[in-house]
Amino acid sequence: MSTKRKKVKLRTDRILVLVIMLAILVLLIVLIAKGVSSKNGQSQTVGGDIQDISSTTTEVTSQDTLSTTQDVTETSQVNHTIEVIDGCTYIDGILIINKSYSVPAEYQGYNGGLDDTKPTPPQGLFPEVIESFNQMQEDALNEGLDIYIASGYRSYYYQLKVYNSYCETDSPEIVDTYSARAGHSEHQSGYAFDLNSIDDSFADTLEGQWVAENCYKYGFIIRFPEGKEDITGYQYESWHLRYVGVDVATYIYENNLCLEEYLGVDSVYAD
Ligand code: DAL
Ligand code: ZN
Repeated sequence: MSTKRKKVKLRTDRILVLVIMLAILVLLIVLIAKGVSSKNGQSQTVGGDIQDISSTTTEVTSQDTLSTTQDVTETSQVNHTIEVIDGCTYIDGILIINKSYSVPAEYQGYNGGLDDTKPTPPQGLFPEVIESFNQMQEDALNEGLDIYIASGYRSYYYQLKVYNSYCETDSPEIVDTYSARAGHSEHQSGYAFDLNSIDDSFADTLEGQWVAENCYKYGFIIRFPEGKEDITGYQYESWHLRYVGVDVATYIYENNLCLEEYLGVDSVYAD
């Protein structure tokens, strides 16, 4: 073969190799693009109000746990994982109960809630809640402060009585600003309780001040903080604590958030 023909063949071979490499590259890009789009199809990303999601999953049972994600929210800047299990909504593993999210009458906190008629603590509260409270109580006592649970777990039916009794003296519109309707109270969760005097005066006591500054260290948040009434849907309650774990409680405390802001949800009754 002449040198000229050899050179032409070499060039042709190189072009062939380039074409093959290009074809492989295009194939790879197509395969990757397909993989991404099918993955997106599986984990539904929801941009709207997550209330829409929960309403579409009310039929979901514990065997059919539904997981989905929500778009980045302005407050937490993270995607949230939402699960509805037996009618209870968990966002990032946190049971959310407020005006938008209820729990069924059958939900009874830890170990079935026990006694319906007496909201005596610590019945119905989860063990980690009691353990953390006991530690907080001990540390407070070491500083000469006395904190105790005045109202812990409350069943659906007990809350119904509480709410209705308030309605004997106040209009439902007013009651809705300080008492939850049955199925919408965190007291049914097994993660919340009221401390000492269930009264505005608690905030100004030494105990109230200590709790406000320290409860996050034990995994608790003041669930209805001052200044967040329009978001939580309730008046400021210095005495009502909710267990969310130390990491979440610390984040919420340090960033001056309420739980709705942290989870990116609202708190509004449907009717
Ligand atoms: N006081 C709070 C909002 C409740 O009734 O659960
Ligand atoms: Zn309370």
